[in-house]
Amino acid sequence: MTCVPIPKTMKGVQMKNTGGHEVLQYKTDLPVAVPRDGEVLVKNDFIAIKYVDGTVVCTGPGSVYDLKVGNRVAMGGGYAEYTAVPASTAYLVPSDVKPDIAAAALLQGLFAVSLNHKSVQVKEGDWVLVHAAAGGVGLWLCQLLKALGAKPIGIASTAEKIKLATENGADYVINYKEEKVLVKRVEEITRGQGVNVVYDCIGKNQTENNVNVVAKDGTIVTYGAVTGFPASISPAKLAAKKVRFVGPGESALMRNVGGPREFEKWCAKLFDTIIKNKVNVRIHDTYPLLEIVRANKDLEGWKTTGKILVKS
Ligand SMILES: NC(=O)c1ccc[n+]([C@@H]2O[C@H](COP(=O)([O-])OP(=O)(O)OC[C@H]3O[C@@H](n4cnc5c(N)ncnc54)[C@H](OP(=O)(O)O)[C@@H]3O)[C@@H](O)[C@H]2O)c1
Repeated sequence: MTCVPIPKTMKGVQMKNTGGHEVLQYKTDLPVAVPRDGEVLVKNDFIAIKYVDGTVVCTGPGSVYDLKVGNRVAMGGGYAEYTAVPASTAYLVPSDVKPDIAAAALLQGLFAVSLNHKSVQVKEGDWVLVHAAAGGVGLWLCQLLKALGAKPIGIASTAEKIKLATENGADYVINYKEEKVLVKRVEEITRGQGVNVVYDCIGKNQTENNVNVVAKDGTIVTYGAVTGFPASISPAKLAAKKVRFVGPGESALMRNVGGPREFEKWCAKLFDTIIKNKVNVRIHDTYPLLEIVRANKDLEGWKTTGKILVKS
């Protein structure tokens, strides 16, 4: 094992039961794990939900895939100062990407990249309808679609969100609260062609519109269901347009990037995209680990616009 000096105990958040925010207990005396065969111990610098950017402080016995003490890696982690993880699941972050940006980018960025390249093969010139275009995933999609040479049409609910989606690459943004004629607007914008791809996280309330705006041979990708699962669609209507439907099971992040080799492949693509396209990664705020309850309350209370980070 090769290690820098490591304390025996650490700060972290413990949860002994399921429940509300009260079950999140901040502790200062949790044991620091000792890396086992094939593992590295990482000091978590920035903790985003699900993913972490941190520095390797100890390499365990066995194969650690050439990782060395001092390397900065991205990996799955939690609310704690240190995490021991299998080296095969830690990805070496390029030095051009700052640690807070790497942590903030991983969940929504990996997801958006995998949608554009795995769920659908978006091509230059494609019209793409992006629901919730000013949401976390939506802003990523607009930027990445624009970088691919596609033409994103965003959907959002307020003037502020429309501005945000436009600044992040949407060619057009439709306010679905004011313009009740979404199908007609999309027809006008695409000159009757319809959109090649629909990215839908709204579900039930937009199912019918999605089928009406998608072009012949187009694809509807459903990856969320904030208003309920998509309503049933007449197979005849889909068949008439030869529409491909990608459901939430097929588009899910963990299905597409969950395995170690897949994680590595998509992280490489994500960081390459961030560097080449100067992607604007929105960070709402960075909370101290001690304030974990406030961070979770803000997130659940829809008070955030961008990733929240926690610093250990
Ligand atoms: N399958 C996967 O692996 C995966 C991965 C990542 C995310 N997701 C899902 O994708 C969805 C979007 O994620 P996100 O991170 O982009 O979320 P987000 O930043 O919270 O954005 C969600 C947006 O949905 C819109 N919306 C429309 N109707 C809504 C309603 N009835 N209630 C709440 N919001 C409504 C809002 O925008 P407007 O005000 O403009 O309408 C809101 O900003 C979520 O459902 C999430 O679970 C799935």
